Amino acid sequence: MKRLKYDQIGYWSEVKLDIIKEYASAYTRIMAVQKDPSFSYIYIDAFAGAGRHISRKTGQFVPGSPLNALNIEKPFHEYHFIDLNDLKVGELESLAGERKHVFIYNGDCNKILLEEVLPLADYAKYRRALCILDPYGLHLNWEIIKTAGAMKSIEIFLNFPMMDINMNVLKHDQSRVDQEQIDRMNAFWGDESWRDVAYRKSGQKSLFGPE
Ligand SMILES: C[S@@+](CC[C@H](N)C(=O)[O-])C[C@H]1O[C@@H](n2cnc3c(N)ncnc32)[C@H](O)[C@@H]1O
Repeated sequence: MKRLKYDQIGYWSEVKLDIIKEYASAYTRIMAVQKDPSFSYIYIDAFAGAGRHISRKTGQFVPGSPLNALNIEKPFHEYHFIDLNDLKVGELESLAGERKHVFIYNGDCNKILLEEVLPLADYAKYRRALCILDPYGLHLNWEIIKTAGAMKSIEIFLNFPMMDINMNVLKHDQSRVDQEQIDRMNAFWGDESWRDVAYRKSGQKSLFGPE
């Protein structure tokens, strides 16, 4: 039987978790002021993980972004957690326990978000969402950002996968980059315009630092 190996996270990931927790708490505090009972807001964690991790600093469990969101003072009306890894999904299910309004999906969020989850934040039905997009690498398709933006009801928190981009795509000599890596970058960015941003002429500042 396969057993879940918890992610071991560095201090920078703990800082990230704190930022998301603070933001989600502020979000629900502000939204809770709405008196209209037809108004509702949901939390979406598309690369949810197992719900808890092991801190490299202390060796102890630390809550992940889904658990932090479940524990904030003023809760969301619904929680939608997605992960590709079935063991992590199993762990999320046990952490969520009997809680109502928690929906857990096992699969590729690029598909599940478009088909099932993003449509729930229907602007005309007074539904709003905070959507956390926290991939390890270039695993998110631009279509998601584009769709969420067009809906005007969804706030996105994107953890930009700089390590994957730097290691695999932004090589000094672009002729040495595999087409497969370029395709991954294009799927994430939406087109090839990242080249203009990343490789500006000398003297100009580029998004990713010097050439
Ligand atoms: C950085 S971890 C998420 C950590 C979590 N947000 C937290 O801070 O507690 C990224 C997760 O995305 C999952 N994953 C990778 N590709 C995915 C995909 N296409 N759809 C859904 N989940 C995916 C991995 O299994 C992993 O658990």
